Amino acid sequence: MADVRLTVNGAAREGRCESRKLLVDFLREDLGLTGTHVGCEHGICGACTVLVDGEAARSCLMLAVQADGADITTVEGLMRDGRLHPLQEAFREHHGLQCGFCTPGMLLTALDLLRVNPAPSEDEVREGISAVLCRCTGYHGIVKAVRAAAVALAPKPG
Ligand code: FES
Ligand code: FES
Repeated sequence: MADVRLTVNGAAREGRCESRKLLVDFLREDLGLTGTHVGCEHGICGACTVLVDGEAARSCLMLAVQADGADITTVEGLMRDGRLHPLQEAFREHHGLQCGFCTPGMLLTALDLLRVNPAPSEDEVREGISAVLCRCTGYHGIVKAVRAAAVALAPKPG
């Protein structure tokens, strides 16, 4: 067993788990943050994507003990003061989800993309989100949503 101390969505959290426990299972089972989904469990689908120290990472490919001391953002951390994040609003407005299974991973992947490239072209969005598999939407709504969020998040002139 090992102690794990990390920051999740701005709050200090800790737990004690088997050293072989995956970060995604630690988040879901030990911290109760079930918004991060488990799909393939071997790095293919992207459903488990979270931000680790600001960068998108697959939480099924990391051990919880490897995340010790890290700053993690999960989908639960996107809302502010009871309001959806502009990226979540854009997904809602542009029908960027259907079943929602891929959505947490898609949101955090898109957030990382917009951090690196605040004004991506359609092709760049498609490339950027290609690490996450969606079986429902055909991606059109997702691409529109990410581009709309880029506009919403852009600094306003003046
Ligand atoms: S569950 Fe992690 S990539 Fe599929
Ligand atoms: S919305 Fe169903 S898998 Fe993407």
